[in-house]
Amino acid sequence: MAKVLLSGMQPTGKLHLGNFEGALKNWVELQETGKYDMYCCIVDWHSLTVDAEDTSNLVDRIYDLAADYIASGLDPGRTTIFVQSAVKQHAELHLLLSMITPLGWLQRVPSYKEKSDTLNLDNYGFLGYPLLQAADILIYLADVVPVGKDQAPHIELTREIARRFNFLYGETFPEPKALFTKFAIVPGTDGRKMSKSYGNDICMGDEPDEIRKKISGMFTDPEKIYKGDPGHPDKCAVYMLQQIYNAEYKEICEPCKKGQSDWGCVKCKNLLADMIIDYFADFRNKRKELLSDKSGLDGILRRGADKARQKAEETMERVRKAMKLYLS
Ligand code: TRP
Repeated sequence: MAKVLLSGMQPTGKLHLGNFEGALKNWVELQETGKYDMYCCIVDWHSLTVDAEDTSNLVDRIYDLAADYIASGLDPGRTTIFVQSAVKQHAELHLLLSMITPLGWLQRVPSYKEKSDTLNLDNYGFLGYPLLQAADILIYLADVVPVGKDQAPHIELTREIARRFNFLYGETFPEPKALFTKFAIVPGTDGRKMSKSYGNDICMGDEPDEIRKKISGMFTDPEKIYKGDPGHPDKCAVYMLQQIYNAEYKEICEPCKKGQSDWGCVKCKNLLADMIIDYFADFRNKRKELLSDKSGLDGILRRGADKARQKAEETMERVRKAMKLYLS
């Protein structure tokens, strides 16, 4: 039987190039191998841990993410794409797992420790965040979870919970493995890691003129002030993006290093903008088309949820029986 793969993202707004290179592109490649029974979830409940007070555009953010998933190449015919909150069984498993999870396991998760110190996020849901993630994964009996390295502690916790459940109630869950993506760090427009919270992101769905504007304002090598100054491509965020989006990036290295009069930062940025605009052209069209028909998009998500729910309910029947619960 094909291995089960599950991953998810929070609907926090349009995806940027860092999200694409670090996750989504990899998911599409994994889909293309045909080796996995794939589930790609939109984890809307997780996003409530930070903004439960303002949910005014939550539904729009869900559609945005669904369109980003599909326009990137995730194919609803081969990959189950669905919204977490449409499959209530995740909440049931989360609750049951909470009964066998020592508080200390959750309190020592690094993302909790960091954020509860810096953001004053100390609500109950936030502490349970990685446990809800464990439920997302275990409910599909997932074997592999493609995620970034930052998620390693969450996958480790998931494995610990699976072991504990199996020990207490009998073999039920496989221990899922993280599948870490190898990818180039994508710099944002200010040279730091691209991140929505830094406001330095370029989104896959940005219009050509937005892309051009963001790139023209990018930080470059601080030692190259005038066009004739020799540049240091290895210290330049524009060059790092050229390496990802321009197949002929090597050709611009020498002219930059030599400070050649016919090659300055403006030209370099224009070329990069052309490349990125072109790279995401099909994506942009597909994304717009999907978002112009919300009921069509909703149909895809509902069919995905129906399929996910069936599998999740099968698991829950086993879980209830294993735990000898009422009506099991
Ligand atoms: N915590 C993940 C993130 O921030 C999102 C997530 C929730 C997830 N549930 C998941 C990822 C299940 C993989 C599998 O990126």
